[in-house]
Parts: sequence; C-alpha cells; structure tokens
Amino acid sequence: MAEPTPDPELFDKVVNLCKRRGFVFPSAEIYGGFRSTYDYGPVGVLLLRNVKDAWWRSMVQLRHDVVGLDASILSPPPVWEASGHLANFTDPLVDCRECKERFRLDKLEDPDTCPSCGKHGTFTEARQFNLMFKTHAGPVEGKGHEVFLRPETAQGMFLNFKNVLETSRKKPPFGIAQIGKSFRNEITPGNFVFRTREFEQMEMEFFVPPDEAEQWYEYWCGARYDWYVEHGMPTEQLRLRPHDADELSHYSSGTSDVEFLFPWGWDELEGIANRGDFDLTQHAEHSGTKLEYYDQQANERYVPHVIEPAAGATRTAMAFLMAAYDEETVNDEQRTVLRFHPRIAPYTVAVLPLSKKDDLVGVSDEVLDLLQPHYMCDFDVTQAIGRRYRRQDEIGTPYCVTIDFDTLEDRSVTIRERDSMAQERVPIEGLRERLGERLGF
Ligand code: GAP
Repeated sequence: MAEPTPDPELFDKVVNLCKRRGFVFPSAEIYGGFRSTYDYGPVGVLLLRNVKDAWWRSMVQLRHDVVGLDASILSPPPVWEASGHLANFTDPLVDCRECKERFRLDKLEDPDTCPSCGKHGTFTEARQFNLMFKTHAGPVEGKGHEVFLRPETAQGMFLNFKNVLETSRKKPPFGIAQIGKSFRNEITPGNFVFRTREFEQMEMEFFVPPDEAEQWYEYWCGARYDWYVEHGMPTEQLRLRPHDADELSHYSSGTSDVEFLFPWGWDELEGIANRGDFDLTQHAEHSGTKLEYYDQQANERYVPHVIEPAAGATRTAMAFLMAAYDEETVNDEQRTVLRFHPRIAPYTVAVLPLSKKDDLVGVSDEVLDLLQPHYMCDFDVTQAIGRRYRRQDEIGTPYCVTIDFDTLEDRSVTIRERDSMAQERVPIEGLRERLGERLGF
C-alpha cells in the first residue's frame, strides 16, 4: 500500500486548535512564555489522562502478571552511575560561531551547514552534553548534595525489583509498570509537545527467565503496536521499525520503535527494548544488593532479563490529536471534527439543554446526575445548538445529549453521534444503557 502523504498544514491546524479549545497552552504565557514548556488546559488534561488510563487499563488492570509503581523523581548520583546515564546519556552538541545557535549534531540534515543562518563551516567541535537535570537536595549546594531529576521512569522499577518481588507474590515472567514525569535537558526541544524538557512517560519493565527473553520481546512488540490500533490509530499511519545495530542504546540487544506518521514524517512514539540483564546486574554490583530470582522448583538462581515497552504519554496524546483531526463540508459549511476513540476523547458525553430557560434546568440536572457517575460529561447552555455541536465536534466528544421542550412532555432526549451526526430519540430511563451499548463501556 502507498504511504499516505502527511498534510503539511496539519501541524499548525492542530496547534491552533489546541490553544483555541483549551487542550494545550504555552507555559507562563502571561510572562511571554517559557520556551518549549506547555500546560494542559481543561480539555487537554482529560485527553492526557485518558491516554494514561487506557495504557494502565491494558498494561495493569486487565493483566494478572503486571503490578504498578509510583517511584520518586529525585534520585541520587549512584543510581545514574549504575544505570550508565552519567557516562552515556549524552547528545553531541555543536555551536554556530556565526549566529550562536546550538544544535544536536546527529539531528542536522547537513553537519556542515547551520540551519539557522545558512553559513558553512561555522560549527565548533562537537561536545558531549549530558541531558540530565541536576539540582541539590537541602540548603547546601555542591558535591555530596547533588541529585538528579529522573530522565526516565524505568530505573524506579529496577531499584524496587526486590521490594516488589518480596511483597507482590509475583514471579518471572512478571512486570512493573509506572506512569510519571521525566526530565531531559534536550538541546533542541520542539515540534510542539513532541520533544520537551519535561514530559510524561508510560513504562513497563517485564522480568523474564533468560531463555524466554526473545519470545517476550516479540510478544510485547506485537501487543504494543496493537494497543495503538485498538485505540483508533489508523494502521497506515503506524509502523513497527526494528533498530539497526548502530542505533541501539548502551543497554539494548534489540529494540523496535512504534512509529507514527507525523506531519514531518515517521517518528517514534514508543520503544520496545530487550535490555537483557544489564540493569539488574549493574544495580546489584553498584548497590551490593543481590537482585535475582530463586526458582524453588528448579532449585536455581538467575538474574531475570528485561523486556521494556517505554512510551511517551504526552507525545502519544499529540499523535492521537493528529490522527483524529478531520475536516469535512456539511451543508456548505466546513466542520472540523476530532474523531477520537471514545476511550481517548476528553469528554465522552456533552449534555446540552436546548434553552437556558428555567423550565429545562431541573430535567437537565437530572440527566447530568444520571450520566456523570459513569462518564466524563461536558455541560453547555450557551449559544445556538448548532454551534454547540460544532464545538463538541472540535474537541472530539463522541455523543451529545440534547434536552428540549418535548422532554418535559415525553421524558425523552436526543442522542447525537459525532461522526455521522445521526440522531436518536431515547427515554431518559434507558439513556445510560443506550449510551453504554453504543460506547462499549
Ligand atoms: N526507559 C527507556 C526510555 O526512556 P526513550 O526512547 O528514551 O526510552 C521512551 O523514551 C519514550 O519517552 C519515547 O519513545 C518518547 O515517546 C518519550 N520521550 C522521550 N524523550 C522525550 C521528550 N524529550 N519529550 C517527550 N517525550 C519524550
């Protein structure tokens, strides 16, 4: 099948929509903004939460072999010495002597030409720049008080391997999953929330007997690709790409990326890595604590190997936005609609009384009370109903429930579906069940 050509205007359209409808705002905007940091607004926070909930549901809730964790963000230098981040978590940095801009050498199209001022041969020698944010704990600065903001959530799972093994009654193969903020002092953040210095990750470390590592690596590559498809990503905008040997991280013997076709081309959403026994061995050596599993039945001790699906929550939310964006002409008017999967859509239902008049207040409150315990509901009484439908289309709400003056007589309401705009009249008494049938939850 021919590869779809990304719409070059899609990026700007989505960024504008994000600002206009309250998905994402530039951080500290009233102070002129703070480069490449973003705040998630009332609608964006719901989208991001739904991405994380959908991941957690699939990775933890629906499995018997994965448990959760929420580890600390601040961590002492020995952790990062053992993990290899102090020595290896670097990017090659070059400065342009002419315009003073800084770049990541490995991301330059032409390593001899400055993309900012266009001059040739103006770059300094490349220097290795460590991406970890460093700060100090307590009032005293300097050596001995240094701490790092974690650049990945993964290390929390390795540090707690023994704790979890002893308390959770799990044995390999089993996983530890975590969602949380990570920080990287990226040289060139950009493409909106795609690459930022503060971002959220969704990572799982799956500990397996060494001879099962390859088979679990294959399993998780497939399972993670399927997760995106199950949540509405079109397969023609999604691919699984195995890394070449020279791309592999210092810990990995095999990695595949789930990639999405962004407006600028294919780029990474998630990496699935076969990390071998690197992490547990490193932390055991550096901490002096044995990190292994004793298989009583076989009477043998071994260091489990690790398969790691590591995704970005904020980056994935952006990909869902890009994939969902659509424009169409309806009755000579242009309609923008985000065709989110219902589990990803910020609001599941919008409750829309036709009029602000007092008569409809009581029954509208009743409908809201009925639905709110089950679904994230928006409630909107302003403007003409057509404009309110358009607003809900633009934030991707799968269903609107409209309450009109007939409702007072027949105790029925209208369900309006986002994609087809088809309407169905249903009694309030069966509304929740009908929505449940249509949504599948
Ligand atoms: N523990 C392995 C690890 O962290 P990674 O490929 O460096 O692997 C995993 O990161 C995911 O985290 C990436 O696929 C991406 O989705 C997300 N990510 C990494 N750096 C990011 C950044 N600066 N901004 C937004 N998301 C980022």
